[in-house]
Formats: sequence, C-alpha cells, structure tokens
Amino acid sequence: MDKIRINGGRPLQGSVKVSGAKNAALPLLAATILAPGTYTLHNVPDLRDTRTMLMLLQTLGASWERSGGSLRINTSELTGAEAPYEMVKTMRASVLVLGPLLTRAGCARVSLPGGCAIGARPINFHLRGFEQLGATTHLASGYVEARVEGELTGNSISFDIPSVTGTENVLMASVKAKGITIIRNAAKEPEVGNLIDMLTAMGAKIEGQDTDCLTVTGVNSLQATEATIIPDRIEAGTYAIAVGATGGELEITDCDPSHLPVLMEKLRSTGMSIEAKASSIIASCPVNVQGTSCPLQAVDITTMPFPGFPTDLQAQFMALMVQCKGTSIIHETIFENRFMHVAELQRLGAKISIDGATAIVNGIDRNKLIGAPIMATDLRASASLVVAGLVASGVTEISRIYHLERGYENMVDKLRRVGAAIEQFAG
Ligand code: EPZ
Repeated sequence: MDKIRINGGRPLQGSVKVSGAKNAALPLLAATILAPGTYTLHNVPDLRDTRTMLMLLQTLGASWERSGGSLRINTSELTGAEAPYEMVKTMRASVLVLGPLLTRAGCARVSLPGGCAIGARPINFHLRGFEQLGATTHLASGYVEARVEGELTGNSISFDIPSVTGTENVLMASVKAKGITIIRNAAKEPEVGNLIDMLTAMGAKIEGQDTDCLTVTGVNSLQATEATIIPDRIEAGTYAIAVGATGGELEITDCDPSHLPVLMEKLRSTGMSIEAKASSIIASCPVNVQGTSCPLQAVDITTMPFPGFPTDLQAQFMALMVQCKGTSIIHETIFENRFMHVAELQRLGAKISIDGATAIVNGIDRNKLIGAPIMATDLRASASLVVAGLVASGVTEISRIYHLERGYENMVDKLRRVGAAIEQFAG
C-alpha cells in the first residue's frame, strides 16, 4: 500500500494548475446515461473516483476512450441497469446513476452506498424525490430498486437539506418527466450548475440555475452533447490553504475564484494576501525582515452549503489554524463525523479539543509541529494531513493515501514542482 513521505518546513513557491472538479465530473459522467449517443467531456480529472464511475458505466454497457483530459463516451447500447456492491462500496457517488437509469430505462438497481468515515450518508431525499416523480422504490438485500410503470410525472419536491447529489439525482430523473417539476431547497453548488449546463445542452428545460428553486419542464427527447468540467474549487482551496501553512507564494491557475468567496475572505482575515484574477488566485504569506513568513492570525469558521464555507475544506483549514496565533473555533454543520483528521494532527503536536460538532484549535508556533507517521481516514482528511506534513519539521509519513488519490490529481507531483520535499513510495 503506497505511502507519502514529506520532509516539512519548506515554503511553497511557483505555479499550480488546478484540474477538473471531481464533484462535477461524477454527475456529468452519470448524465451520459440519459440519452443514447456519443458524448465528449473535456477537463475530466484522472482520479480513482472518475475511473470507478467509468467502470460503472462500462458495467451498464457503455464504452469510452480517453485522450488527454477529454473523454469520448458511447452510451448507445445500455445492457444493464444495476450498480453492483463491489463498485458502490468504494464510491458512494455511484448512486448518481439512479436518476439517469430511471429516465433512460424506467428501472435501476443500485447497492445502498452505506456509510463512510464522515457519516451515515443516507439517500432518503433521493428516494423520496423519485417516489414523488411516480417511481416506486424498495430496499432488498442491500440494494435499492427503483422502478416506474409508464412515464415519470413532474411534481413539487422540497428537500429538508440542500443535498448536492440529491438535487443532481432528482434533476436527472425529472428532465423527461411529464409536466413540470419544481425542486425547492435545491443545492446551489457550482457543480450542480455545471450539470444544469450539460443537461440544457442536451435539450433539457431547466430554470433557476444557481438558485435554491429549480423549475424543470419535461421534454420528449434528449441528445448526446459535448461539455466541459469546471475547475475543482476544493483543489484550488487546498493549495491556497497549503501556502498559508508553509509560507511562500503560489499562483493557482485554471480555477474560478468566484467559486471560493468565503474561503478567500477567511484567508485574508488570517493576514494572507489573496489576489483573485479572472481564472487564477495568487496566494501568499507576508514575510518579516528576516525573510521568514510572519505568523498568521487564527479565525473561526462554520461550514455551510454553497456559497458558505465548504465542508470539503474544513479539514485542510484546520491544518492551517493549528499554527496560527490565537484560538480558532471550527463548527462542522454538514456531516456528523468529519473530525477524523484531528487525532492524526494531534500526533504532530497540534493542540485541538472537540466538543460535539465543534473543534477548538489552540494555535502553536509553526515550528512546533513535529513530523511523525500518521494515517489518512478519508479524502479531505488526507489532504489536511499533507498540509500539516508540509509544515511539520522532520519527516511525516502518511499511510492509506488511496483516500487522497480519489480526489486529487497528481498532488505529489504538483507539490514537488513548487518546492515541497515530498515523495510517494510503496510502504
Ligand atoms: C456532496 O456529497 C459531495 N460529493 C461531498 O464531497 C460534499 O462534502 C457534500 O456534497 C456537501 O457539500 C459529491 O458531490 C460526489 P449532501 P453528498 O447530500 O451529495 C444529508 C468530497 O470530499 N443527507 O449534500 O452526498 C447528509 O447526510 C465529498 O468530495 C440526508 O440526510 O452530500 C449530509 O448531512 C465528501 N439524506 C447533508 O445531507 C439524503 O438523502 C448534506 O449531504 C442526502 C443527504
């Protein structure tokens, strides 16, 4: 099993290119099921999760070929409507094939994703949305089976919580439903907007993009199309946080700063310089007369649905707060168990206490973090451990980095190119 070894304490300096967004690529890949034909998707990141989704599409009868960052996917012949447990257990976003299969084939059988390290991750909002569109769903031996006799029928659907994949799944089940579907308390994440752009290009009629109320007018047919995945805002935010932790300056290119409004404000509040350009962010730390990075100021965050502070950047931000002046209160409101990185950060010397959904981080000096062997537990926690390892003096070895490979394209290489002493090895 591969590990990452980091010799910390070096500033980051240079330019990092952001890849396509994992959390946009997954729904857009699932959307290729909706109508038969050949699709071209650009800027698709080559990740463990996108490879899993492509394997799932292949299981359903699709074929695909990659040429650089572009994929050509042919879904003309669908031979199945089942997502097997072996696949779904490695990536819960496999549930995103439920909506498209209901629209395309009138039925779907998908293994229940089960929980993961960060929480129970139920899909009750997805299933209730399908039922409100006229489908029947039932759970049998760990699988959810959804079926509709005849056509799906538009309805008014309200989410208790603005679920991102719930919104995406119900959207994909509503685009050919008879009549009008209104989705209230819909998620407004940029990745949902990317899906809406693709569905519109396929012939769907959707109003309310980027708002919490989507109105879908069912259409009779959809066509295969070409689409481009938006930049990964979580990857971009991770590198901006990393340079705050290590000191130095990074130009983070091929990103969309408008997707990170709160993160940029929070980083400015620490004392970092954050310059937003059309498609890049320049993030840097002030240096003192000795040329070393000035200590940053701790700030509080509360994770919220977009445009609030993203829960997917909470762990990484905590790794920055660990070595800021003062105390940071971090409140996690989206998932019930998203502090798995705390125990590992404490192994490096971090001073953190947890009170329910709140972490209290007592900042220590940058040079007080000491490298040690630590273990990744989930995707964003592993990114948090990399940030901390870049700062800790001495050697930090991170195990179970397959978590990292799910959502960060070539992270070790990208960090090495901007000065990090980092390597991946078979451990
Ligand atoms: C998406 O997950 C992302 N994944 C997550 O990113 C992200 O953390 C999350 O949205 C929140 O932004 C993808 O887009 C593939 P939710 P999703 O449904 O859709 C509860 C990463 O690291 N809920 O918005 O599964 C749920 O338990 C991953 O890239 C229900 O109760 O999240 C959570 O508390 C991690 N019932 C809250 O809603 C449901 O049917 C928000 O979850 C659905 C959700």
